[in-house]
Amino acid sequence: MAVVELPASLPHSARHMSKRFYLTTAIDYVNGQPHLGHAYEKIIADVIARAHRLLGDEVFFLTGLDEHGQKVQQAAIAEGKSPQAYCDELAAIWGRFAAKLQLTNDDFVRTTDARHKAAVQALLARLHREGHFYQSPYRGFYSQKEETFLTEKDRRPDGTFDPSYGDVVELVEENYYFKLKDQQQWLIDYIEANPEFIAPSYRRNEVLGFLKNNTLEDLCITRPAARLNWGIPVPFDAGYVTYVWFDALVNYISVPAARGDAAVLAAIGQAADAGGAAVELWPADLHIIGKDILKFHCVYWPIMLKAAGLALPRQLLVHGWWQKDGVKMSKTTGNVVDPGAVIDEWGLDAFRFYVLRELDIGPDGNWTDAGFAGRYQAELANGLGNLVNRSLSMLKRYRNGVVPARSDELAADAGRAMTETLTHLRASELQGALVSVWQLVTRANQYVDQTAPFKLAKDPAQAARLDEVLYNLAETCRVLGVLLQPFLPGTSAKIFRQLGLPDATVPLSTAAWGGLRAGATIGEPVALFPRKDQPKK
Ligand code: MSP
Repeated sequence: MAVVELPASLPHSARHMSKRFYLTTAIDYVNGQPHLGHAYEKIIADVIARAHRLLGDEVFFLTGLDEHGQKVQQAAIAEGKSPQAYCDELAAIWGRFAAKLQLTNDDFVRTTDARHKAAVQALLARLHREGHFYQSPYRGFYSQKEETFLTEKDRRPDGTFDPSYGDVVELVEENYYFKLKDQQQWLIDYIEANPEFIAPSYRRNEVLGFLKNNTLEDLCITRPAARLNWGIPVPFDAGYVTYVWFDALVNYISVPAARGDAAVLAAIGQAADAGGAAVELWPADLHIIGKDILKFHCVYWPIMLKAAGLALPRQLLVHGWWQKDGVKMSKTTGNVVDPGAVIDEWGLDAFRFYVLRELDIGPDGNWTDAGFAGRYQAELANGLGNLVNRSLSMLKRYRNGVVPARSDELAADAGRAMTETLTHLRASELQGALVSVWQLVTRANQYVDQTAPFKLAKDPAQAARLDEVLYNLAETCRVLGVLLQPFLPGTSAKIFRQLGLPDATVPLSTAAWGGLRAGATIGEPVALFPRKDQPKK
């Protein structure tokens, strides 16, 4: 497709692209190695980003790292490094992880980036000027591990705090607070009036339940620099750094600000960078997050945005948590699924397939090595792989790889798979989309068994029938290749190559039946998912 360059003489505003489909993931804490949970969220976002691009949207996909706070400072000290040097080392590891997952993110934010710090400070300065903060002493309990203040309500019946809080210390200190008390009702009204705002609906109900049954405490947004200095300095008081969650949430607008998004720049009072072409991003279309960080995203973040005069994101898409063998993954028990090791053994597409097919976005999931191997064998090797391999091998063997005349026997099945898949993709229903695609895989494998082309090939009187069957199968392989692009990009490229088509991505609309040209010659059939006969240990 030709890219139309707009003349440079047009006024700046006319050179703006239309608003992008803007989606984000949570930004991961750098104090550790990436695991299955982090990979899962990033793959969800990547599939949605790829799908929207192939549906014709201009997309901006953001992910990145959350680098400030006590946990990072302590981890750096424990390794005898400066926090910045420690973060730089880990950022390289996380960057390689994103590449290993073949994420198609358009930017990668680090909260230690100058552009991010500038936006956080600009927002703090504005909210301070407008009277959203006040200073007050605090005496109470503090969990360093969770970077959060605890109250008497958080104590268990025996008076102790849950071990998940780690060491709880008693603190007395002055801090700045963000006034939240008057913000509760409009947020309840907004969530009730916008049922799509938080998905799935049971997470929305959870947030509504919380807001209706509790009085919001004002949010402490600073930490005294004397206690914690690994944070963004508060612009109006040198004695403080910014609370890590206030800092982290702002990443969703600091990158738009750096990219010249006019609404965000106006809201935080930053000047536009006259140089670059501005990109229109805000409001975000999707924030993809795990269930544990619901309150930060569904309560604090909307309130921060409203205070800044910014529109709220269109949707918070909340996924569940993975366990391994029915147990929480933890470094101490050693039952952490290492995505890198799984990808090295089984391939990236197998990993992407399993996490999306096994677990719908919402509930919690359970990883088992046997479950993984089972899906690989049944759905990838015996299902998709076998279909493509036998279809194209027969076309090669019986027709020298030359595509016969069009025949529409599987057109309705393929059309249904396409319509359903696209509907699911537009609604971010990734598991549903894969189920729809696999209905076509199953149907086509049945079609091979029912039509028995290997028998037809033995009877010259059946040559025309064999042509029909071979066209239907090859065309179904092409349709599958198109529909699978967002999920299994490497596999789609291989299917295209084996069909003799360019392996570049194509719009999802080209899955419409009849794209394969009669008379074209296909490429070499190669197994997509080699069978692994040894059960995985
Ligand atoms: N830094 C914060 C997020 C700030 S967003 C402005 C944070 N980081 S995290 O590294 O702890 O988690 C990052 C994401 O990974 C979260 O959305 C979290 O829910 C997700 N997961 C972490 N462990 C997970 C599983 N075991 N399963 C699925 N997702 C999980 O929170």
